[in-house]
Amino acid sequence: MHRHRSRGGRTFALKGLTRVAPGYPHPEMTGQLTDPWTLGGIPIANRVVLAPLAGIGNWFVRLQAKRFGAGLVTSEMVSSHAVHYGNERTCTELLRVHPDEHPVSFQLFGQDPDIMASAAERVAAAGADLIDLNMGCPVPKVCKTGAGAALLGDPDRAVAVAAAARRGSGLPVTVKLRPGQRPGERDGVVLARRLVEEADVAGLAFHPRHASQAHRGRPDYELARGLVEELPVPVTISGGLRDADSAREAFARTGAAAIMLARGSLGNPWLFGRLLGTWSREPSADEVLAELEWVMERAEDHLGAERAARYLRKFYPWYVERLGGDPALQDTLQRTETLAAARAALRAPALAAAA
Ligand SMILES: Cc1cc2nc3c(=O)[nH]c(=O)nc-3n(C[C@H](O)[C@H](O)[C@H](O)COP(=O)(O)O)c2cc1C
Repeated sequence: MHRHRSRGGRTFALKGLTRVAPGYPHPEMTGQLTDPWTLGGIPIANRVVLAPLAGIGNWFVRLQAKRFGAGLVTSEMVSSHAVHYGNERTCTELLRVHPDEHPVSFQLFGQDPDIMASAAERVAAAGADLIDLNMGCPVPKVCKTGAGAALLGDPDRAVAVAAAARRGSGLPVTVKLRPGQRPGERDGVVLARRLVEEADVAGLAFHPRHASQAHRGRPDYELARGLVEELPVPVTISGGLRDADSAREAFARTGAAAIMLARGSLGNPWLFGRLLGTWSREPSADEVLAELEWVMERAEDHLGAERAARYLRKFYPWYVERLGGDPALQDTLQRTETLAAARAALRAPALAAAA
């Protein structure tokens, strides 16, 4: 007899009977990345999610992930205080939603339940389908206010913040967290249980590195697997998903409901397609340049030409890396003051080759 259970729509056969992910000996895994599921009642087309990326995950980066197949996209973290107090740039730029990017989850950070309720209400009105709460950010600027990973050590407050986000928004709420502040700590695991039981969170995203590790070191997928098996809500795995093989391995090893692409997706929207079986080769240089141009046009629309020219300096290295990583081109792009200068620098190698 095989025991089956379903979480986030993913079916597990506890022993035997299985489709094995290519290359990984995990006979209990039956789910596919292309399987649809629901999160807090929201239908999601597949198991590949864009992670929250501060300073990066704006509407057009999310839309790009969506174009390449992402089932769910998450915003960069947004300050609940900035939303509550109506900070203009936060409310006009960070809360901007494109009609084609749904379902979209907005990630908020903050430690005050009343402010969180108010911010969550505003984010819902801006068009979010879900609210995600940041309880994993290790950055001192965030933690010293009691938000981010500091909430792992303040579980009563964390539960109150999550319940407030749900109350304020009326939307399903998820929480992204880590195992603890330091190696060996399990505050995050204990908190995860309480968030489900007491704050009615619809799902969790688990990054199994301790806050002190920031984004370095091997994620503890065994710990994640334990959480996946224990909790009655879908758990999405984050961490170490740098390419298609490592993403598939994490999905298979943890049994998670979904995977979250973060650094692996930077300048690499093709990774979504690879994981979903809609893309199977390296993009050509022309395709990489066309994709970067797509990003540049939207950045200009979003920020105006002058600010976009500076903002895009963060994006150029990811795309130039895919073009071979020429250090001279990288250096030139970091010095460009205008979009026209950046476009000329990007076109120069092709023009030189044609000459
Ligand atoms: C530049 C950068 C910005 C990030 N911003 C956020 C954020 O706003 N909220 C959050 O919960 N995690 C954030 N993270 C963490 C990622 O979502 C993800 O959990 C982490 O990068 C581990 O995944 P990876 O090893 O596949 O990159 C950020 C990570 C990076 C590298």
